[in-house]
Amino acid sequence: VAALYPSLIAADQLNLEREMRLLEPHCQGFHLDVMDNHFVPNLTWGPLMVNALARATTSRIWVHLMVDDPLALLSVLELPAESLVSFHIESTKKIEAIIDSIKEKKWHPSLAISPKTDPTRTFPFLHSIHQIVVMSVEPGFSGQEFIPTSFERIDLFARKRATENMTFTIGVDGGVNATNIDRLVNVGCDDIVLGAALFKSHDPVAALRTLQAHIAGT
Ligand code: DX5
Ligand code: ZN
Repeated sequence: VAALYPSLIAADQLNLEREMRLLEPHCQGFHLDVMDNHFVPNLTWGPLMVNALARATTSRIWVHLMVDDPLALLSVLELPAESLVSFHIESTKKIEAIIDSIKEKKWHPSLAISPKTDPTRTFPFLHSIHQIVVMSVEPGFSGQEFIPTSFERIDLFARKRATENMTFTIGVDGGVNATNIDRLVNVGCDDIVLGAALFKSHDPVAALRTLQAHIAGT
């Protein structure tokens, strides 16, 4: 069964702790988008806030770095062991150094790839990462529409994983909702980010449970 991660940039920013408490029993962890207003045209939380959010829950933390300098941020993040830390292949040339640095901290390295990037660019790193994240919207904002070609991109990674006996999980981030989640699970997604699909609803817990029930039947 796929794991569901509420994306807290879409949540009520003045009540993040309350949102986490409500959702915790029904999800596998929380997705935290870190944006630097340079790699993407939007700005979210810095390390102070991310570290505080990580302390506020016992659920798994999945940090998604959309920043020009992932290495600099790694040194100031304080996350529990086995947290997932995603960075973008487009953001840096120091891919191997960043993977190593994440592993040194006992976190799980994850490589995110934007919709227009050639997926084969990630192939040299698939053996050394814990997760690949197929971005199904242009990174930067919650509430965008899912890009349909993402299905084929996910399928490509799922096939590559099977033929080469690799162990990475496949994440999908952006525009996931009740109309596409079943197909995403069927093509091989393991880790699913949910922003607007939960937080634009008047009852995020009910929305999450509905989506859980959906994928339980896939
Ligand atoms: C987009 C972010 C996503 C976003 C998902 O740059 O990385 O995590 O919060 O939100 P929805 O599900 O609304 O697209
Ligand atoms: Zn994200």
